[in-house]
Amino acid sequence: MISLSHLRKFKEQGRKISCLTCYDASMAKAMELAEIDSILIGDSLGMTIQGHDSTLPVTVADMAYHTSAVRRANQHSFIMTDLPFMSYATLNDALSNARTVMQAGAQMVKMEGGEWLSEIVQVLTRNGIPVCIHLGLTPQSVHVFGGYKLQAKTREAADQLIADCKAVVEAGAALLLLECVPAQLGKEIAELFPNVPVIGIGAGVETDGQVLVVQDMLGLTFGKVARFVRNFMKEQAGETAIMDAFKAYHVAVQDQSFPAPEHSFQVEL
Ligand code: KIV
Repeated sequence: MISLSHLRKFKEQGRKISCLTCYDASMAKAMELAEIDSILIGDSLGMTIQGHDSTLPVTVADMAYHTSAVRRANQHSFIMTDLPFMSYATLNDALSNARTVMQAGAQMVKMEGGEWLSEIVQVLTRNGIPVCIHLGLTPQSVHVFGGYKLQAKTREAADQLIADCKAVVEAGAALLLLECVPAQLGKEIAELFPNVPVIGIGAGVETDGQVLVVQDMLGLTFGKVARFVRNFMKEQAGETAIMDAFKAYHVAVQDQSFPAPEHSFQVEL
């Protein structure tokens, strides 16, 4: 089973990390067979599984339910689970809810935020719970951003995001996830932290790994598809098509043919 130490080693070796969202046992098994490095039980399940128009209605019980289904079917991939909207607003909530998803089978919890989460990161880490911090476009704050848009487009905003990364890493964050930021910023942040893998989604090819929502990369997203998505199912045929799409994604992340420039945001900072 892939552990946090493996992910750190992959970064040290320059071997890119493949990550996909997953919410159920059959997909989790297919990802195990395709040797996907890491699985995110994302609160995107509010949209992809539950049919809501945001991640806000998702509960801790939902996250635990899907985490246990994925863990039972997949003994290979590193599993991280989102703490959903308002489930880490206080230290006590963060501790108790992180415990619930870790006991369901997660190896790490993910929270959206920045410097203001430092104390929570420190306490969770001290209690044996590895933490990933999601920065850039953070979907739980969609109503603050006023939509799903590119973040950190100016040098000033990029420097603020870097300061947030430094604060949470200093507090003990073991992984960073950057969403929808200029490719140059993805590279700068990955280079800044030699011991902390940086996973990107719409953050360019030079982060230490990539994550996609599984429905997006299988072509199951109806309506507007984000710029950073590639449909890996289009190139497949036959009864193993879904597993082959996962394998093709894993290979494309490794050889850095994904994300291509057309999946990234090129902004000079
Ligand atoms: O919830 C989720 O699926 C995520 C990804 C978009 C990174 O956070």
